[in-house]
Amino acid sequence: CGIVGYTGKRQAQGVLYDCLCRLEYRGYDSCGIAVNTPEVQVFKDAGKVHDILQNAPLFKGTAGLGHTRWATCGEPTQINAHPHTDCTGKICLVHNGVINNYSQLLKRLEGNGHKIVSDTDTELIAHLIEEYDKGDLEEAVRLAVKEIEGSYALVVMRSGENTLVVVRQDSPLVIGVGDGEYLVASDVPAILGYTNRVIYLDEGDIGTISPDSLKIRRNGGYIVPLVEKVNWTQDESQKAGYSHYMLKEIHEQPRVIQNTLINMPLPESFNKSEILEQSRKTGILFLACGSSYHAALTARYLVEEHLNIPVRLEIASEFNYMHRLLPCKLAVVLTQSGETADVLRAMRRLKQAGCMVVAITNVAGSTAARLADHTIYTQAGPEIGVAATKSFIAQLIVLYALCFAGASAANIRYQDYLSTMRLLPSVVQSILGSHQNIKDAAVEVAKSKSAFFIGRGINYPIALEGALKLKEISYIHAEGYAAGELKHGPFALLSPETPVLALVSRDQTYEAMLTGLREIKVRRAPLIVIGEAGDEQLGQLADRVISLPSFNRLFNPILFTVVLQLLAYYVALELGCSIDTPRNLAKSVTVE
Ligand code: G6P
Repeated sequence: CGIVGYTGKRQAQGVLYDCLCRLEYRGYDSCGIAVNTPEVQVFKDAGKVHDILQNAPLFKGTAGLGHTRWATCGEPTQINAHPHTDCTGKICLVHNGVINNYSQLLKRLEGNGHKIVSDTDTELIAHLIEEYDKGDLEEAVRLAVKEIEGSYALVVMRSGENTLVVVRQDSPLVIGVGDGEYLVASDVPAILGYTNRVIYLDEGDIGTISPDSLKIRRNGGYIVPLVEKVNWTQDESQKAGYSHYMLKEIHEQPRVIQNTLINMPLPESFNKSEILEQSRKTGILFLACGSSYHAALTARYLVEEHLNIPVRLEIASEFNYMHRLLPCKLAVVLTQSGETADVLRAMRRLKQAGCMVVAITNVAGSTAARLADHTIYTQAGPEIGVAATKSFIAQLIVLYALCFAGASAANIRYQDYLSTMRLLPSVVQSILGSHQNIKDAAVEVAKSKSAFFIGRGINYPIALEGALKLKEISYIHAEGYAAGELKHGPFALLSPETPVLALVSRDQTYEAMLTGLREIKVRRAPLIVIGEAGDEQLGQLADRVISLPSFNRLFNPILFTVVLQLLAYYVALELGCSIDTPRNLAKSVTVE
């Protein structure tokens, strides 16, 4: 979910609408706003921000809050949409997170005579604050959240006042500092149109904000908050003439690769041979979710081959159920947003166990960046499309560069690889500049109900990522498979209606890939092969060949990724799907 708050001199409604449009990628099944006019006026419904809020009545007032929802507790309906109020309608709030002790709280509040009208956990918080409200809203919020178990970022206001009280625990929240105004939001891009000066709240911080004052309470006392300047610009979070954010973000990749390479100082102690030497014995643990997990799986191949360090790899949500942590001393988490709840939980567990945690993330000031012992930033800029594209490429770049830098001490040829990497932006640009063949393939794939993506070795994670891209934005069922595994079951599904997209590099996996392709061919599945330029054998086997530009094949995974992103995009376009905001998804999953 995305939450926003405003108090200042402008009319709040327009600001809230504007910020919510930029937050929509965090969830978009329902939305709402509340403005103090001075009494609280709420407008909310199921549906997307621009569909719903453009029809809102005009509320006059300079303080308010807003929400765009990704349903967790209670279906996406008008009554469950945020903001929520207490029985009196005086306490009004928006929430991102999940309350775990929902049932106990519900029982207690109903026992005390509160009439709960929605199915959400959030509404309970409004009633709870009302119980504690003896005139000091900050104190009421402080006491109420003491009773809550779970995760929350809250913006609370009381009828008739232009003060907002905000608090966070395990869900992100930033305060934007303007001139005579403050904004609050789940993330920085939401408020970039108003300010680039931000305060990142720590876990448990409570902020009390009015147009001309800000107090932040931490551990029982008040602190002087650190105001940081962010270097993202609002332009970066606009579509810039592209029909979708996703297409724009795919096209930004040459610049992203360049920026990531330029701005990637290796954290000193990570680069020190001591930690690498230790890891040689105990291994490195990689953890992530979604596309970031696919990047982590790619890291496994890179690190084991080039650094000769064993890698253990876990999906963050599953790691939380695993009983043996050791012997890893070094863990690397990959997370674009830095806010994925499962990743953060795993990080906390690792830190408690004394593991050194390195985060590779795209968002400065994110919770992962703050929790980690060392942070390496991908320089992708704000990624708005729900399907990860440029952030995934940036993660791959960081991983390649780390491996090659680490390996270069032992082998001079890695210096050459690092230099070769600097040519990647122009090679990726050449794919972006001419891809009619990918569009044509997309028209074919769009006719199918199901598709397989296969690869071997380091191309296997890219097959997983290609399948994920296709399913999340086009809703075509797609499975990524290790090519060798296809015959252990999925062969039963092959038919002329089920295309197989194969990633073929002329490396040690080549012969086995070709054998597999022949087996697929005789089962009459349409075969689309993405391979290297000049590979004549592919033309004899495949129904369609998409050739990569000629380049060092070490980097094929990066080039395959770009092809598969474009393919998924054009399939979804052909099918008229909601590309930037696919159904049921959210960009950052901030609940477990
Ligand atoms: C969500 C997004 C995915 C993303 C995943 C992990 O599911 O829709 O695109 O890969 O979360 O997010 P993270 O921010 O941790 O990389």
